[in-house]
Amino acid sequence: MTSVIDNAGIPRIRLASGRDIPSIGMGTFGSDKYGPEEVSSAVAGAIRCGYRFFDCASVYGNEDLIGKVFDAAFQSGDVKRDELFITSKVWNNMHSPGQVHASIAKTLADLRLSYIDAYFVHWPFPNYHAPGCDGDSRNPDSVPFDVDRFMSTWKQMEEIYEKGQTKHLGMSNMTIPKLKEVLPLCRIKPELIEMEQHPSFQQRELFDYCRVQNIVVIGYCPIGSPNRPERDKAPGDVADTELPEVVSAAEAHGIHPALVCIKWAVQRGSIPIPFSVHEKNYAGNLRAVTEDPLTQDEMKLLEKAERNCRLVKGQVFLWPGAKGWEDLWDLDGTITK
Ligand SMILES: NC(=O)c1ccc[n+]([C@@H]2O[C@H](COP(=O)([O-])OP(=O)(O)OC[C@H]3O[C@@H](n4cnc5c(N)ncnc54)[C@H](OP(=O)(O)O)[C@@H]3O)[C@@H](O)[C@H]2O)c1
Repeated sequence: MTSVIDNAGIPRIRLASGRDIPSIGMGTFGSDKYGPEEVSSAVAGAIRCGYRFFDCASVYGNEDLIGKVFDAAFQSGDVKRDELFITSKVWNNMHSPGQVHASIAKTLADLRLSYIDAYFVHWPFPNYHAPGCDGDSRNPDSVPFDVDRFMSTWKQMEEIYEKGQTKHLGMSNMTIPKLKEVLPLCRIKPELIEMEQHPSFQQRELFDYCRVQNIVVIGYCPIGSPNRPERDKAPGDVADTELPEVVSAAEAHGIHPALVCIKWAVQRGSIPIPFSVHEKNYAGNLRAVTEDPLTQDEMKLLEKAERNCRLVKGQVFLWPGAKGWEDLWDLDGTITK
């Protein structure tokens, strides 16, 4: 039987526009492991159990089946459209003039919605790689970040916002140097930024920068993405659920270390979007934010879990002449050209 978590107990976060949204969502990327049927039936279960925020993307290849699930949930009265916060993202091969419009039109048709709650630029480069490619794949047409190119994509984002196709705008996989360049140029600012975030990769500086800009942070891979695709696995990666700081809090609360990661993210003020196709896990993740919070001492201890362990390095997006995945992330404080 589906476990139902009382929505009233789920903390909420306020966007710059004043809208309150749930402080936990469900991811929908099957990690090249779970197919569209499994992911969409998990979305159906998650709605029944109380999730009201879903992180979608065209590149996840499952929006059409997730759309059927949303439609069925609205038809049956399980949930109303305005109770859900549904996000999606434009993929890297759809940045050129007109393509953002085409991309959101397809997403809206697939998801069977008249509007999306937040639409994101998935990566700040128009560098395409095929879904499911291996870590050594490179596209010779790839290019480094360029402010003018990005802003012409963002202009389309502003247009779809003005048409009412999305209620809010977001960026993803950004850095402080890139944000410093583009935010002053935005006519309509992003209200949300999606970034990798888990105890061993806290991105404290970027997180604080976003908060100062009144931008809400969505944290992806909140549990350290134990089932991530092979291309995102590298020697030296650490498992968040095995870190002593995480394990000791888990033991103190008698819970799985994954739930410590989720509680930590919400109590820190970000929105984790954990993924699972298993009801026990996705229901457990939602329930975890409604009960038995971490203590201040545990939150302090978890700050020490930082290991600078970026999992989604993005090397498949590198351009000819780039030295390594670090070039995507502007580590020396300037935009790598
Ligand atoms: N913007 C971007 O560029 C970007 C990049 C990556 C991801 N994302 C988004 O972020 C979402 C989450 O990232 P992710 O799926 O890579 O990583 P994640 O949520 O950190 O990890 C997911 C894995 O954790 C396991 N898990 C979940 N809950 C658990 C629990 N309570 N106990 C034990 N194990 C648990 C699941 O295994 P089981 O399936 O066995 O339960 C699942 O395979 C994605 O689905 C996607 O929506 C966005």
